[in-house]
Amino acid sequence: MKQHREGKAKFLANLSGKDKGPGKAKGVFYNPAMKMSRDLHVAFSNKIGLKGTMLDGLAASGIRGIRLALESNINSEFCDISALATETIEKNLKLNKIKANIYNMPVEDLLQEKKYDCIDIDPFGTPAPFLEASLNGLNYGGILGISATDTAVLCGAKPSVCLNRYGANSMKWVSAKEVGIRILLGKIHTLANAMGKGIEPLLCYSEGHHLRVFVRLVNKNETKLKWLNLQMDVVDEYENGSGGPMWVGKVIQKRVIPTDCEGKLGKFFEIMSKESEGPPGLYDINDLSRSAKIGQTPRRNKIIRCLEELGYFASSSIFSPLGIKTDAPEAKRLEATELAQSL
Ligand SMILES: C[S@@+](CC[C@H](N)C(=O)[O-])C[C@H]1O[C@@H](n2cnc3c(N)ncnc32)[C@H](O)[C@@H]1O
Repeated sequence: MKQHREGKAKFLANLSGKDKGPGKAKGVFYNPAMKMSRDLHVAFSNKIGLKGTMLDGLAASGIRGIRLALESNINSEFCDISALATETIEKNLKLNKIKANIYNMPVEDLLQEKKYDCIDIDPFGTPAPFLEASLNGLNYGGILGISATDTAVLCGAKPSVCLNRYGANSMKWVSAKEVGIRILLGKIHTLANAMGKGIEPLLCYSEGHHLRVFVRLVNKNETKLKWLNLQMDVVDEYENGSGGPMWVGKVIQKRVIPTDCEGKLGKFFEIMSKESEGPPGLYDINDLSRSAKIGQTPRRNKIIRCLEELGYFASSSIFSPLGIKTDAPEAKRLEATELAQSL
């Protein structure tokens, strides 16, 4: 096992991810491609002043919980079903001079016994089997962070699996990832409701090969799941081709977005911040250009500028490089696309 560095942590792990190392079955998993996800987690925790005890529930090397302890001053605990992982976490805690509880057991069992102020679930593939236990083990007001790498399922490539696993129709094309996030939130909301609780999504996004949500546990509320049709209208019932049922409320709260980050993460937060104020759904700039009968698609920023000049909300999106979020009606979307061509 090699020693690595990420953020302020040094730690032992086997390099995983595409074409590298032991893969999922053997060794102690570490995927450097998820660094941005952990950087974001640290920045988010610092922004909201996360307090109390957090469980790194599927910890592997413990890198996430270790970084949160070192960089956000959080009291982390660690759980992994693999004995090799928990032995390695013990060494990694020593390397970073951290004292913390480590549990070698299924996280579902641990969460029957203990409650936390913050729980992180970062599985191989789908988080679905862990959702109920996580909601059960979270204190009121606590924060749940969930990763999902079953993007093929949530984002339109395996619709029948999505229906079985999440009870919802996924969507293809430009809004696939945003809809995937909303379907995952819909599932968490439904499970929370069945337990007499509710959720408030705080910061939800897609990046690279994964989706991630951070939600706060709140009182049960009357939020209704809805559908998004192909025109990106929110509708109360299933229509041919629509996605849902899904969470159609806000998926990003502007107030929790860190404002002091630079580089790739800073840019990501900047887009999120603007996008947070827009309606659900995205329009593809190539589709807009085709409908406006324009030969070459104008740059996204130009169409956004024209939509704003016409008096509408418009932003780019972290969910797709081709997507525009706007509240402009169809005629105005086409007018803005035409105007953008001549800029
Ligand atoms: C994707 S890795 C976690 C990566 C880690 N969070 C990171 O940032 O590098 C998933 C881990 O979950 C563990 N695991 C799988 N099922 C589990 C369960 N039911 N309870 C606890 N750990 C489990 C695996 O042993 C593996 O180490």
